[in-house]
Amino acid sequence: MSSPLTLTSTVKLPSGYDMPVLGYGVYQTPKDVCYRHIDSARVYRNEAPCANAIRGSGLKREEIFFTSKIGPRDMGYEKATKAIEASFADTGLDYFDLFLIHAPYGGTDARCGTWKALVEAQKEGKIRSIGVSNYGVHHLDELKDFMKTSGVGGTISVGQWELHPWLPRPDIVEWARSNNVVIQAWSPLVRAERPTESALGEISKKHNKTWAQVLIRWSLQNGFVPLPKSVTPSRIEQNTDVYDFELDEEDMEMLHFPDSYAPCSWDPTVSKLED
Ligand SMILES: NC(=O)c1ccc[n+]([C@@H]2O[C@H](COP(=O)([O-])OP(=O)(O)OC[C@H]3O[C@@H](n4cnc5c(N)ncnc54)[C@H](OP(=O)(O)O)[C@@H]3O)[C@@H](O)[C@H]2O)c1
Repeated sequence: MSSPLTLTSTVKLPSGYDMPVLGYGVYQTPKDVCYRHIDSARVYRNEAPCANAIRGSGLKREEIFFTSKIGPRDMGYEKATKAIEASFADTGLDYFDLFLIHAPYGGTDARCGTWKALVEAQKEGKIRSIGVSNYGVHHLDELKDFMKTSGVGGTISVGQWELHPWLPRPDIVEWARSNNVVIQAWSPLVRAERPTESALGEISKKHNKTWAQVLIRWSLQNGFVPLPKSVTPSRIEQNTDVYDFELDEEDMEMLHFPDSYAPCSWDPTVSKLED
């Protein structure tokens, strides 16, 4: 994916639905603004305000892509089924665009049971696309095997991981690409912890853009769907103004740290299958 990306660009998911390629992460965000793609989760406790914002936006429901996630405490078939129902009750929405398993915790049975609950909700038309978050390659292999052998089936349309130049996760990215899973990048701005990195300074000067815009562009040009979060209106706007420049090969090379592994938050991808 390179140039003619715009704020309204979408990517086709394996489920057949389209997802806007720039999303708005609402972790620790009390209310919502103007993006068309909103990343929420039950554990963020802001599904309902997001749904209210969608209703109050004046946009048609289908013009907004809304994601939620099943949290670690709701893993397993029964709990996950109830959690999905609770998300509908809390939000009053008719459908979710995407539901992810927030993290691969709870052991094999719980993970697979949660997946089954998602597949059923999708078949009932409640959820359009389903996927996972924070799965390591071993969790992904387990799920792929379960989908094939259990009769439950399903398709992983989206995977969401912490991804930025200092955590490029080449193994997971390769797995996702070769299995046709669309990749979302959380903490694409490294939680604003690296604004003084020299590579970012040089590249932002060259393009007359901010370090945050450079990181969002890095994510887009890797084919990811970045989910930058901000509660500051000017930054929210700045983070959408990323379609009038392109990082060239030299810029991408300066931000290429294939051996770096520096998470800035929790990292469930490394948890054991029995965790
Ligand atoms: N699946 C998961 O496990 C998981 C985990 C974490 C996050 N996520 C998702 O990913 C989203 C984003 O991740 P994140 O919130 O951890 O980190 P992030 O988007 O990398 O960084 C957010 C921080 O960057 C600041 N910021 C935003 N735009 C800026 C700009 N243009 N210039 C300077 N600073 C800027 C924000 O400040 P202000 O808000 O003060 O403006 C905030 O402190 C979350 O909201 C959530 O939806 C998912």
